[in-house]
Amino acid sequence: MEKHLVAGHMAENLIGSEIIKLAWEINARINEGQKIFNLTIGDYNSDIFPIPETLTEQIKIAYDEHQTNYPPGEGILPLRSAIKNYLKEEGKLDYSTNEILVAGGSRPLIYAIYKTLLDPKDTVLFPVPSWNNNHYVHLTGCKGIEVETSPENNFLPVLKDFKKYLSKVHLIALCSPLNPTGTCFSKKTLSSICKAVVKENEKRKEKGKKAVYIMYDQIYWGLASKKTPHVDPVSLYPELRDYTIYIHGISKVFAGTGVRVGWAWGPEKIIGKMRSLLGHIGAWAPKAEQKATASFLETKKEVKTYLNWINEEISFRLEGFYEGFKNLKHHGHSVDALKPQGAIYLTVLFDLIGQKTKDNKTLETVADVTKFLLEEARVAMVPFSAFGSKTKKPWYRLSVGTCSKDDVNNILESIGKALLTLQK
Ligand SMILES: Cc1ncc(COP(=O)(O)O)c(C=O)c1O
Repeated sequence: MEKHLVAGHMAENLIGSEIIKLAWEINARINEGQKIFNLTIGDYNSDIFPIPETLTEQIKIAYDEHQTNYPPGEGILPLRSAIKNYLKEEGKLDYSTNEILVAGGSRPLIYAIYKTLLDPKDTVLFPVPSWNNNHYVHLTGCKGIEVETSPENNFLPVLKDFKKYLSKVHLIALCSPLNPTGTCFSKKTLSSICKAVVKENEKRKEKGKKAVYIMYDQIYWGLASKKTPHVDPVSLYPELRDYTIYIHGISKVFAGTGVRVGWAWGPEKIIGKMRSLLGHIGAWAPKAEQKATASFLETKKEVKTYLNWINEEISFRLEGFYEGFKNLKHHGHSVDALKPQGAIYLTVLFDLIGQKTKDNKTLETVADVTKFLLEEARVAMVPFSAFGSKTKKPWYRLSVGTCSKDDVNNILESIGKALLTLQK
């Protein structure tokens, strides 16, 4: 066999997103003519969920005006001003334009937070299931501590889960509303975590040690149900202002996943270093899209109308699925769901391990359950293992961003029929 020299660590080991890979595999099967309900990807069908009209119009206008040269590394000032106002109005958060950084979606900003705050031997703590933290750990070469969460706590981390690690960590990566679970921090749970971080930093200050920071990813901010109002660290503990970097953008809340405008805000010094890092990478949001986003955010009435509309649409689907799963459970099927609280996701359980298919094959693993659902119900969802969870139970993320209103009942019916084929 021919011998090859090995390349560097990344060339040999880096892997892409498992979720995107799965979603594209399903899309390929759909394109081949298979009828599958693809509830895998955390994206929108843009025919069902178009971006706001003003945003589309303003993007066209900006190109007509030749807004096509390099934007400033921190983002154009009108956009940072519009974001400043948005933070104040939507979240009562007071940040100056120098504390806000714009990039080509929120991913580069998350990478920049990891890369700026963590030295190679530093440690980041994050809950599982959660989105992509394992990959950012790999990319930055830091050490990750994964804390498994439980359905009893809505799969959100509670202080008890990670108190013992607190003295060792340099970054805690939190997200609410949470991808993949569609659940949100309560004020009580987040407060107890924040209080512990404040105390920890007081101790470190006395000893002259490096601080612990919080990355608060609220990309789904604006998509939290009214019953679970959004909470955030600095509003709860203003002392955390120097140690918290937030993530938001237009990807999820304004359905602009492909428009690529995201922003972070936090202490000016860290934001400035993140700006320099992303400048070297060139991960800026396109200038025309920045101009358009600025104009859109300033049209307060349209922002409100859009938010009301998208929340109603998403809630219809999430509640529809939730009720449907409860109904299936009521009829004796081994399924369950967590009450939806936000984002575009529902947590569902197909507790089918040990059951037999119509061909007398026992479902032994989560992979068997996934295959059964795909083949018998023609439904694809992402198992929690793709979000780093080690649970042996077949919990799944069901994403509603690509699903029409009519699909909700069609999918539930298809799942119901598939479950009836199982021998208990
Ligand atoms: C929790 C979370 N943060 C960040 C992102 C990335 O968003 P963007 O498309 O703005 O890069 C996603 C995308 O799925 C996400 O789920």
